[in-house]
Amino acid sequence: MGDTRAATVLAYHVRSKHAPDRYAAGPGTLDWDAQPKAFRDWEGAMQTPLPREIAVADIAWGELVAARAPLPFNLQNLGSLLRLCVGLTAWKEYAGSRWSLRAHPSSGNLHPTETWLIAAQVDGLQDGLHHYQNLHHVLERRAWGSDTQAAGVWLGFSSIHWREAWKYGERAFRYCQLDMGHVLAALSYAAALHGWKPRLPELDEAMLAHTLGVDRVEEFAGVEHEEAEVLVALHATDAALPPDWQQWAGKPALLDARPLYQWPVIDEVAEATRGPLPPTQVSAFGAAVRRGGDNDIRAAQVLLKRRSAQAFDGQSVLPQAVFRRLLWALLPGGSPVWEMWTLAARVHPVLLVHRVEGIAPGMYVLPRSDAARGALQAAFRETFVWQPADAEFPLFQLIAARAGKTARTLSCHQDIASQCAVTFMLVAEFAAPIAADPAAYRHLHWEAGMLGHVITLEAEAAGWRGTGIGCFFDDADHEVLGLKDDTWQVLYHYAVGMALDDPRIATVTAYA
Ligand SMILES: Cc1cc2nc3c(=O)[nH]c(=O)nc-3n(C[C@H](O)[C@H](O)[C@H](O)COP(=O)(O)O)c2cc1C
Repeated sequence: MGDTRAATVLAYHVRSKHAPDRYAAGPGTLDWDAQPKAFRDWEGAMQTPLPREIAVADIAWGELVAARAPLPFNLQNLGSLLRLCVGLTAWKEYAGSRWSLRAHPSSGNLHPTETWLIAAQVDGLQDGLHHYQNLHHVLERRAWGSDTQAAGVWLGFSSIHWREAWKYGERAFRYCQLDMGHVLAALSYAAALHGWKPRLPELDEAMLAHTLGVDRVEEFAGVEHEEAEVLVALHATDAALPPDWQQWAGKPALLDARPLYQWPVIDEVAEATRGPLPPTQVSAFGAAVRRGGDNDIRAAQVLLKRRSAQAFDGQSVLPQAVFRRLLWALLPGGSPVWEMWTLAARVHPVLLVHRVEGIAPGMYVLPRSDAARGALQAAFRETFVWQPADAEFPLFQLIAARAGKTARTLSCHQDIASQCAVTFMLVAEFAAPIAADPAAYRHLHWEAGMLGHVITLEAEAAGWRGTGIGCFFDDADHEVLGLKDDTWQVLYHYAVGMALDDPRIATVTAYA
């Protein structure tokens, strides 16, 4: 059974690869006016408006990691948390079009991830399961009534694959999973500001789907399915499970009345990758000390102002202090993300350095665990020099070379990959984790998405910018690294550089 599921996953991964002469299957034509709706309403569900005020507006970025007393779990503070991780941050307008942006990036700005809040005994909020409607920053109550009395707050997440598949076809499942990783990381930063410590309880997939109500097949008849992803405990005793609901309300809105294509392989890989997270393990670098910094920019502003660069200037040199702070944040212990995501590090950055102060242009690797260092060295090209490149961090130079053109070619010929200061390629342990548990396919993408989010926020806080790159030529990457089989696979690219903004695009506040 597990073997068949693993085989389904591996086959999906291969067929959803892009190559210079063969992109993964996708729609031949796109009707932009027929894009699936970015927001799902639950018709008939009771709404609770959320306060819009940011409760933690004064905390400096450099103090993000400092221990702080947890704020009470009330409507005010939950509204603040949701805005900072999954809320709208701006509307953009250009030439008669208008689109919204959120605290986390999303492939194609299509936002497949839906957010659910489960509350028991929260001041100002009725107990139950609520859908977070980010368009208006309100909660829609989907379910209530349970025998469980214990206080608790959980956030749940589901993906609507069609939102991504509409544009990206078969590769879309990967993008939904990378997006999920971004959301989890965004949540851990926002929670840290509120003094909250999110945990990932082990919960089997049927229970999760049941808790979020996405297994209520009859209610989803004729509308797009939601795939349960993960539950995060914000405030609950270790053993507490989310309540089992007795009453349900609301009907999910249809998002796309005329879907033109079908990508059944996405349903297959979704089914093959259902399963709980593995038990927590502490990473080898788990002892890394939290340390602050002297950056006094407001952390909440960083989270709300985060944007993906659409173009980089191709000349600015990333200061070494910014670069090193970024490396540190990627290592276990270096960011609030790694306090929530305590699994052993399985995804590791390879860096194509174009313009970084004091670092020769070339290809580098930052193994995030001691075990990975040896394993990567055994798997990568034999001619790589593995020259230590930092006194403190496990950064190794593999080759010295200008790699701008290579980065651009590997990233589906996108200029952002060469015009930035550093292009990251995130390489994951692959065949073994998936053979052991096919659900790892999702979790590895989440980890890659989380690393991307850490990169983007650290860049943003320092006045630089990041952009996720989901479009890359998989096996061309592997060829460059000398990887001969699927023991390791690259799952994501990321670019960091000095952004060029487009002055023609107007910005309007998120919640007027
Ligand atoms: C998983 C993922 C893949 C992405 N891939 C690309 C890409 O290949 N090229 C690109 O220019 N932007 C890419 N982006 C950036 C998105 O286009 C961007 O996040 C989106 O337009 C929303 O804008 P914002 O991040 O400024 O909110 C990607 C983002 C994510 C999260």
